[in-house]
This record gives sequence, C-alpha cells and structure tokens, in this order.
Amino acid sequence: MTLVQLDKKTQGTTIQRLKTGVPGVDNLLSGGLPKHTITLVSGPPGSGKSIFCYQFTYQGIADGQKCLYMTLDKKIEGLLSQASELGLNFQPAIDAGQAKFLFLNINKKLIYETMVNEILSGNYDRIVLDSITPLSEMPIYLNNPEFSNDLSNVDPEELVSGNFPVRRLHLHYIVNALETSGTTAVVTSELPAGSNHMSRDGISEFLADGVIVLSLDPTMDRRKLAILKMRSTKHTLKPQDMQIDKGGIRLV
Ligand SMILES: Nc1ncnc2c1ncn2[C@@H]1O[C@H](COP(=O)(O)OP(=O)(O)OP(=O)(O)O)[C@@H](O)[C@H]1O
Ligand SMILES: [Mg+2]
Repeated sequence: MTLVQLDKKTQGTTIQRLKTGVPGVDNLLSGGLPKHTITLVSGPPGSGKSIFCYQFTYQGIADGQKCLYMTLDKKIEGLLSQASELGLNFQPAIDAGQAKFLFLNINKKLIYETMVNEILSGNYDRIVLDSITPLSEMPIYLNNPEFSNDLSNVDPEELVSGNFPVRRLHLHYIVNALETSGTTAVVTSELPAGSNHMSRDGISEFLADGVIVLSLDPTMDRRKLAILKMRSTKHTLKPQDMQIDKGGIRLV
C-alpha cells in the first residue's frame, strides 16, 4: 500500500506527496499535492470542483487514509448519489469509519465551532471543505465568542472605523485550523466566469499553498484544468484539457 509518493528535491529535502486521484494531474505535480498543505480548487458552477474533491477523497480511502469531507452546499445524500453515478461509492468507507461526510448548515449557530473542532480532532489525513464561498461572504458578529481570540489581534481603531477586514478573518480562522491540524486539505471556491481572481473572495489564493483553477468553454464544448500555484513544486501553468466521465475528471 502506497501512502505517499516520495519526491527527492534538488536541495536534498524530501517532500511527501499525496495523490490527488485525478488521472494525469499527479504527473504534473511530481506525484501529487505536498503533504500538510492547503490547495484551493476554484472555478465556475459545474466546472468539476466537487468532483475533484470526491476523487481526492476516494484516493485517500484507497491509500488507507482517514478522510473528512465537509460541505456547505449540498445535503450528503445528494452528494453521495452524484459520486456514485460517477462510480465512486463511499458507503463502504463511511461504514468502516474511514471516511466522514459532514453537511454544515450555514444558518446554524456554532458552525465554526463544529467545523474547527472536527478539523482539530487530528483524526484526518485528508480534509475537504466544499465550498468556502458561503463562509467568506457570511456576516461576522463582533460579539460572537467564537472569534474572541482572533479579534484580540485586531487593531481597535480598525474595529471602530469599520475598516476591519472581515472576510479575511473568516478565512484565516479556517486556514489556521487546517494548518494546525497537520492535515492535507482541498478547499473549493466559486469563481464567476471571466473573473481575474483565483477565488471569489480574492483572498483565499494568497492563503492557500496551491491553486488549481477549473474552467469551461461552452462554445467549444471544452473543459480545462490549470495549476496556477503549488508550493515546493515545479509545474506547468498551461491549462490542460480535461473531461468528466465515469470515474470523474481526467486529463485528456
Ligand atoms: N455522471 C456524470 N457523467 C458525466 N459528467 C458528469 C456526471 N456528473 C456530473 N457531470 C458533470 O459535472 C458537472 C458537475 O460537476 P461539479 O458538481 O463537480 O461542479 P462544481 O464545480 O462543484 O459546481 P458548483 O459550483 O455548482 O458546486 C455537471 O454539470 C456535469 O457537466
Ligand atoms: Mg460543487
């Protein structure tokens, strides 16, 4: 059983990599995503962000790792049946306690606490958060005790003036938890078609170690995948042709 791919870098350091499970992508990444990093997968609706996350989770299961999939978009039943249509059946791993799928309702109180507790439980080798967009757009209540630690670092003048970077705080909160947990994470972000940013919030791409952008060209009936950033990895920036079919995304 191969847990991670080893990649000898020229500097003599060894970077452990986790296969994405997306055929063709790992070859472009010297074997996969560097262990203990956060990769942002962004793209417009229908571009394959969730399917990328299913494949990342499915590969983790195949490699004997523990996986957590958190979603703010979809009820778990719908997600599992979409995955199963693609031939990715998660039920055995869920039953065996190797994979956990968690639907987080954005309208519920303590969503951050639930999320961060789960992330920090230290139980998972791979974590997916699909998607971060509702969180980055959610209003923040300054008297929310969940943020008291973070707010103590904010300049009081910024708070009073209202210039305080609210979205950054949400994202930092999650990114800090993922970093502390020592997991390898994939986080998705919606991207309006034609956007110049790499994420809808315009911030997550700076916080993430890696950025993979999925795009659609309806006129040409084409899909593309581009690796725009990946820490410790030499990679092409060129958008690659991809297809979604049985098994999910694959480069063509
Ligand atoms: N069984 C399947 N066979 C072939 N293509 C499929 C199949 N299931 C989904 N697709 C394609 O994948 C698309 C959905 O991909 P996915 O759910 O990963 O998109 P997304 O980027 O997560 O979208 P959103 O932003 O709405 O969540 C569908 O619109 C369809 O084009
Ligand atoms: Mg999705």
